[in-house]
Amino acid sequence: MAETIRELISEQEVDKRIEELGKQISSDYAGKSIHMICILKGGAFFMCELAKRITLPVSIDFMYVSSYGNETSSSGNIRIKKDLDESVEGKDVLIVEDIIDSGRTLYFLTEELKKRGAKSISLCTLLDKPDRRVVEVKTDYVGFQIPDEFVVGYGLDYAQKYRTLPFIGVVEGV
Ligand code: IMP
Ligand code: MG
Repeated sequence: MAETIRELISEQEVDKRIEELGKQISSDYAGKSIHMICILKGGAFFMCELAKRITLPVSIDFMYVSSYGNETSSSGNIRIKKDLDESVEGKDVLIVEDIIDSGRTLYFLTEELKKRGAKSISLCTLLDKPDRRVVEVKTDYVGFQIPDEFVVGYGLDYAQKYRTLPFIGVVEGV
């Protein structure tokens, strides 16, 4: 069977949900500024859209951590491949991720940023696969909870493919 993509969440649904998250975050952080940390590469598409919908001062930084390679399951081995440019000390940090699967990446990152002296740390993920959780993490903002299927689009890739799809889809036939 050839590899195909079945649409799971449409572009319109994703846009609408990001708008809602932007409003909610803007109201929760009223009077503060937000230091958004984007987890590369998947989180970049989501962060750009979200940041535009936040009506407070926002600064951004990027981190690239890896646990995956080209496989579809987490190895549990997290490495920082590209570190932040700026200190997080004393800042209200909002980590922006594409998806939480086992929770290992976010657990590692939250602990790391705590050690580095962030004033507060919240977590915003576009997608959440709760059935796959191995390590408990507190998610503050979730776009969509999805079933245990491998998804692509809106920043998420399968071996670097399908990242630029404007909707979320499931890879079939692999
Ligand atoms: P965790 O450490 O298992 O929570 O892994 C999170 C990371 O695994 C995400 O940031 C993605 O890069 C990757 N990942 C997990 N599930 C999927 C998926 O369904 N599609 C694409 N990437 C995924
Ligand atoms: Mg990722």
